[in-house]
Amino acid sequence: MVYDNIVLIGFMGCGKSSVGKVLARQLHKKFIDVDNVIEAEQNSSISDIFETKGEEYFRTLEQKCINELTQNTGQVISTGGGVPIHSTISETSLIIYIDADFDVIVNRLSARERQKRPLFNDESRAKALFDQRKNIYKELATFSVDANQTIPTFIHVIVDFILDKRVK
Ligand code: S3P
Repeated sequence: MVYDNIVLIGFMGCGKSSVGKVLARQLHKKFIDVDNVIEAEQNSSISDIFETKGEEYFRTLEQKCINELTQNTGQVISTGGGVPIHSTISETSLIIYIDADFDVIVNRLSARERQKRPLFNDESRAKALFDQRKNIYKELATFSVDANQTIPTFIHVIVDFILDKRVK
């Protein structure tokens, strides 16, 4: 199997974008963040889109965005935490789950980072969402990496796995 793209999935704040940037640099691929693409296209922040147009509208934007992005190949794509739940990801993607525990995520997210995430306003609701989603992420992933340590400690695990596969 030759994969078209590397797609990073996982809960809000698990480190998908930071991991994605490092991976793309190391693998000489282009890095793309779905949330950033949507914000640029809509000329609006994710929290404004949620507030003015609602979550359902945002989910349709996500599906459209991931469909369009996966028409191209050779990219490292970081997704929003809801993408694997609400959208379909092209089967030719190498999907990597950045698997961090909820406590680790809470400690990583600054107050400012939480504010940007409407579904993280309430920590107990976020924890319930995390519990609902965790197994879905795991089942969908080609590979899960334990992301409870700092990025430099686990990035090589992902790189080794990818180098063993064929990605366009
Ligand atoms: C969401 C995750 C966010 C963003 C939006 C909804 C979710 O992205 O897409 O706030 O449903 O988990 P990050 O995973 O980058 O925080």
